[in-house]
Amino acid sequence: MTPMKIAIACDHGGLNIKNAIIKDLKLIGLEFTDFGTDTTDSVDYPVYAKKVCAAIQEGKADYGILCCGTGIGMSMVANKQKGIRAAVVTDDFCAEMTRRHNNANVLCLGGRVLTEEQAVRLTNIFLSTYFEGGRHQRRIDMMED
Ligand code: RB5
Repeated sequence: MTPMKIAIACDHGGLNIKNAIIKDLKLIGLEFTDFGTDTTDSVDYPVYAKKVCAAIQEGKADYGILCCGTGIGMSMVANKQKGIRAAVVTDDFCAEMTRRHNNANVLCLGGRVLTEEQAVRLTNIFLSTYFEGGRHQRRIDMMED
């Protein structure tokens, strides 16, 4: 993987997989910022989604990882933020394709959907797959119009 900066956050429903992903990011040696939450106390996922998206918008991170119970709430918030393309992913194929074709910059994962091993695997696929550009860039430009 090329050097990249990751912003990561979760709510109480995603804490387990966020911790597993962070352990793996440390092993790989990727630079990351953890925006919380750090306990299983109930919190509001929009707060955390916005922190990660702001880090990307400000150029402090290249990619974001957001973990909640399903990944869905995080993705809904993230996709309302300018310049953010967030994808909820539950399988290897979509983890790859959302990078290759959608140039997704935020990966959303569900701690009540995935095992820790699956979450780590999907993160690795996402972070190691390149955007193909070309006709896919045209379609992304149309999204931003
Ligand atoms: C929290 O209970 C849960 O609603 C949240 O983690 C997430 O799954 C929302 O989409």
